[in-house]
Amino acid sequence: MIRRLLLAAVLAASTVSVVSATSNVVEEREGLFKAMGREARPVGAMLKGEAPLDLPKVQATLDLIIKNAQALPAMFPAGSQADSDALPTVWERNDEFKALFVKLGEEAAKARVAITDDASLKANFPSVIRACGTCHQTFRKKS
Ligand code: HEC
Repeated sequence: MIRRLLLAAVLAASTVSVVSATSNVVEEREGLFKAMGREARPVGAMLKGEAPLDLPKVQATLDLIIKNAQALPAMFPAGSQADSDALPTVWERNDEFKALFVKLGEEAAKARVAITDDASLKANFPSVIRACGTCHQTFRKKS
C-alpha cells in the first residue's frame, strides 16, 4: 500500500514537470479559463431550468472560479500577448484588468455563500457570469 502511494506520488510529480516543460504561460492561463467555461456551462443549464439544481456542482464551480481568479492575475507577464487572445489593454490598463479578477472572486465568494436553492441561484449566479463578460469586452479579442 505504502509502495503504491509512493509510486502514485512519483508519477504525479513527473506529470507536473512534463506539463510545465511543454506548455507556456499562455497555454496555462487559457487552460484555467477553459476550465471555468466548461464548469459554468451546466450551471447555465440549471439557471435556465433545463437541468435540476445540483448544489454540490454549483459550489464546486464557484470554488474553481474563486481559485482561478486568484491565480490568473499573475499569469499575464509583460510580453505574453503573442499567440493569445489578450488585447494590449491588459498591459495598458493593468490595474483595471487586475481589479476585474478581484471583482470576479468577490462575486463568486458571495454567490458561494448565498446559493442554497433555485431562487438564490437565479439571484446570485448571473452576477458571476457578468463579471466574466465585463472583462472580455475590454480585454479579450472578439472571436
Ligand atoms: C479580468 C479579466 C477576465 C475575467 C474576469 C475573465 N476572463 Fe476569460 N479571458 C480573459 C482574457 C484576457 C482571455 C484571453 C487569454 C489568452 O488568450 O491568453 C480570456 C479567455 C477566456 C476563454 C478562452 C480560453 C481559450 O483560449 O480557449 C474562456 C472560455 C474564458 N475566458 C472564460 C471565462 C469565464 C467563464 C470567466 C468567468 C468565470 C472569465 N473568463 C473571466 C479575461 C478575463
